Amino acid sequence: MLDTSAENQRRHALHPDQPVWLFGYGSLIYKADFPFLARRPASIDGWARRFWQGSHDHRGTPDHPGRVVTLIRAPGDRCAGMAYQVTPDVFQHLDHREKNGYLRVTTSLTFADGQQQPGLVYLATADNAAFLGEASEEQIARHIAASHGPSGSNADYLLQLARALRNLCESDAHVFAIEASLLNTAMPARAAPAK
Ligand code: BEZ
Repeated sequence: MLDTSAENQRRHALHPDQPVWLFGYGSLIYKADFPFLARRPASIDGWARRFWQGSHDHRGTPDHPGRVVTLIRAPGDRCAGMAYQVTPDVFQHLDHREKNGYLRVTTSLTFADGQQQPGLVYLATADNAAFLGEASEEQIARHIAASHGPSGSNADYLLQLARALRNLCESDAHVFAIEASLLNTAMPARAAPAK
């Protein structure tokens, strides 16, 4: 497995006393297992969320990686999520949690009131060793239905993300199509999506 945690610690010279905004678009929306100073719904422009990254360490295994989200460039699109204002020491924990191919990059966050702030986001690009790439939403749903890892089932990751987006009153056609496919065909015994 490619471990990106050392590169992430090296690439940003963050002042220990200077809080920074971190944009979450995947499990960070619903799993904030770190201290934060503030939390605000936010979005980033020009990016789309896609289940194109492999997970060897959380929602899959080295032999059968699961599928988790990354961001791809999509001019005109908007990706909604949750922003956390954190002190830089938090990245020691998060860089380890998200070490499987994700690098921190700087972006511009837009809050619900239109205010903008610079922030950091974890991004797994197509050249990382765990990248799985594009597949149909039905194929992705079948893959997710069959994947499990130390952090739990891949299906729960998808369903929790879809629910968290609904709780934010946000829509994501890619996520919701995979969720529908999983519930209707790949895992028909699961309950209907939670409101
Ligand atoms: C997130 O929830 O923003 C996130 C997604 C992938 C890796 C790390 C964090």
